[in-house]
Amino acid sequence: MKSRDQISDSFRVKTGNKLRAGGGILLLACVALAPIVLSQALAAPVSTHDQPKPSAYAGDVACAQCHRKQAVTYAFTPHARDSAPASAGHILGSFLPGRDLLHTSDHNLVIKMTSSPDGFYQNAVNLSDPQNHLSERFDIAIGSGRHGQSYLYWNDDQLYELPASYWAPDHSWIISPGFPDGQVHFDRPVEPRCLECHTSYFSWIAPDPNRFAKTGIVYGINCERCHGPGADHVARERAATSRQGPRLAPADLAIVNPAHLSRARQLDLCSLCHAGAVDSRLPPLTFQVGDHLEDYLAIQPAAPGDAVDVHGNQVGALELSKCFNSSNMTCSTCHDVHERPASAESYSRRCLTCHQMQTCGKYPVLGQAIRTKCVSCHMPLGESDKIVSNTGGHTLRMLARSHQIAIYPTVSARIERSLAEK
Ligand code: HEC
Ligand code: HEC
Ligand code: HEC
Ligand code: HEC
Ligand code: HEC
Ligand code: HEC
Ligand code: HEC
Repeated sequence: MKSRDQISDSFRVKTGNKLRAGGGILLLACVALAPIVLSQALAAPVSTHDQPKPSAYAGDVACAQCHRKQAVTYAFTPHARDSAPASAGHILGSFLPGRDLLHTSDHNLVIKMTSSPDGFYQNAVNLSDPQNHLSERFDIAIGSGRHGQSYLYWNDDQLYELPASYWAPDHSWIISPGFPDGQVHFDRPVEPRCLECHTSYFSWIAPDPNRFAKTGIVYGINCERCHGPGADHVARERAATSRQGPRLAPADLAIVNPAHLSRARQLDLCSLCHAGAVDSRLPPLTFQVGDHLEDYLAIQPAAPGDAVDVHGNQVGALELSKCFNSSNMTCSTCHDVHERPASAESYSRRCLTCHQMQTCGKYPVLGQAIRTKCVSCHMPLGESDKIVSNTGGHTLRMLARSHQIAIYPTVSARIERSLAEK
């Protein structure tokens, strides 16, 4: 294999902090801007919290000893399985001959997936000059694979995103969303926000945008990501159990139950990761459940008709709904995050805790047929404008569920026809 310096300009790779010659202007801009945003974040008012030390956490194994009900099902949720070291068991894309190749719109440029005893690799190959190739290893897998999965690799202690991702709808390899087709980029830095939404613990080495401690990363979204550091809670409960004494008073539990927070603070917890791509005002992992999120993130309310944002801005969309504004609804009204995801149809039951089926304008026409279909018409699936992959000349868009609960006449007419046919 050739060294980085011998590689042709058809691959954009980083050499130190510089990019090699060739296009990639947009990427250069990203790289140049990121440190400024982050250093502004550092200069901002001091956080009410520092990032807690690893010793403040107990880990999911400890929680599971006493909270079996939550822990048993939680382990199978997309949150729990959201990120992992990229091992054979975690990479969802195929390495089988024939399915291990990703074609780009430049017919000479392909990415081939290979495995070897020391790991799995993405190899960018120039077919007109096969000696001309570049390989980087799958180090971290992001995504449980409901829609897809992306991969990160280390270059020393700097983290970058790999150019090929897995696409769940047709079990194929695609050009990673947001990467250009017909080129291969290994130069996209992974910033702290990516890990803040997709892992539970890491140490960012400021101010470089993508430099992290390689050890001590806690993968997946774990109990303490939503309940706050729990080592103290575990110690107190263990002492209480061994004393066989009275149960601890709620104030002494040293753990947060989001249900006891105000509605706004409950929503802030989910908004940390479900309000789309926004700038950070403070360093990563300093937000703790119960804090005001606006101190940490520059979140703008969504405007009617806004596109489904990065990975779906569920919070912004829900806030545009009459249901949300005329009730005390939170995310927990419909989702129990400790359970595996329910089918879309099963959510109708949640609607019917506040609505009567008969009040739907379509009940007189369709009757009982609408009972399990509320979500199809009032929270339709739509194509994301943000999660888009351009692969081999085709455009692929992620399908996301709109959280703006409303009346959608065109969608409804289509669903009505299909229900009437049954
Ligand atoms: C030694 C046993 C034990 C361990 C370990 C433990 N808990 Fe608890 N936890 C309890 C008990 C007992 C309660 C009180 C339950 C009650 O009052 O119904 C509790 C309550 C809670 C509550 C509800 C608090 C409230 O105010 O309503 C949450 C949330 C919680 N634990 C999360 C966790 C998490 C997260 C972990 C792991 C970091 C964990 N627990 C580890 C025993 C334990
Ligand atoms: C603001 C928080 C946030 C940031 C930043 C973010 N993500 Fe996500 N990501 C999410 C959420 C939330 C979902 C689930 C969205 C959904 O299902 O609509 C998701 C979904 C995904 C998925 C699909 C998971 C699946 O199982 O289908 C992939 C892959 C992914 N993100 C990769 C990345 C990578 C790589 C980065 C950074 C380079 C990143 N994301 C940055 C919050 C974020
Ligand atoms: C994505 C965020 C999130 C994660 C991760 C999470 N929880 Fe929770 N948990 C919540 C919310 C929100 C509530 C309050 C639910 C409600 O409103 O009833 C809650 C409530 C609880 C309670 C209070 C009792 C109950 O059932 O309402 C316990 C105990 C608990 N969680 C334990 C755990 C344990 C153990 C884990 C890990 C195995 C975990 N949670 C992971 C968000 C989370
Ligand atoms: C630390 C970031 C983070 C927080 C906090 C968080 N989520 Fe998520 N959530 C994610 C990511 C990332 C995914 C995508 C998981 C995947 O498929 O890989 C996700 C997926 C989901 C899904 C789709 C999968 C499923 O289980 O049905 C739901 C629903 C969800 N989150 C609800 C919530 C709610 C409700 C809260 C607040 C109580 C919350 N999340 C808090 C990051 C987060
Ligand atoms: C927590 C209670 C609650 C839940 C759960 C709920 N809604 Fe609503 N919804 C309301 C309230 C209150 C209104 C406003 C009623 C009014 O103005 O008369 C409303 C309004 C609506 C409207 C009228 C919207 C418009 O723009 O005119 C529709 C449609 C609707 N809900 C459908 C649903 C569906 C479908 C679900 C389940 C996915 C659901 N709702 C879940 C409370 C709820
Ligand atoms: C009125 C009920 C309702 C409420 C409230 C609600 N959701 Fe959902 N959510 C749904 C339904 C229905 C689905 C689609 C399930 C499916 O398609 O299988 C869904 C799916 C999701 C998904 C997966 C989306 C995807 O396209 O992959 C995420 C993430 C999510 N919800 C997060 C949230 C968050 C965060 C909140 C609070 C801001 C929230 N939800 C509030 C009903 C609700
Ligand atoms: C086939 C599509 C479809 C299904 C399925 C459906 N709805 Fe509707 N719904 C509509 C349409 C269209 C309207 C507006 C009707 C009108 O204005 O005449 C509506 C109106 C509503 C309204 C507002 C009524 C008002 O006057 O403000 C509510 C509430 C509602 N639906 C709830 C539900 C619930 C709950 C379910 C599931 C049990 C459901 N809908 C299933 C299409 C549907």
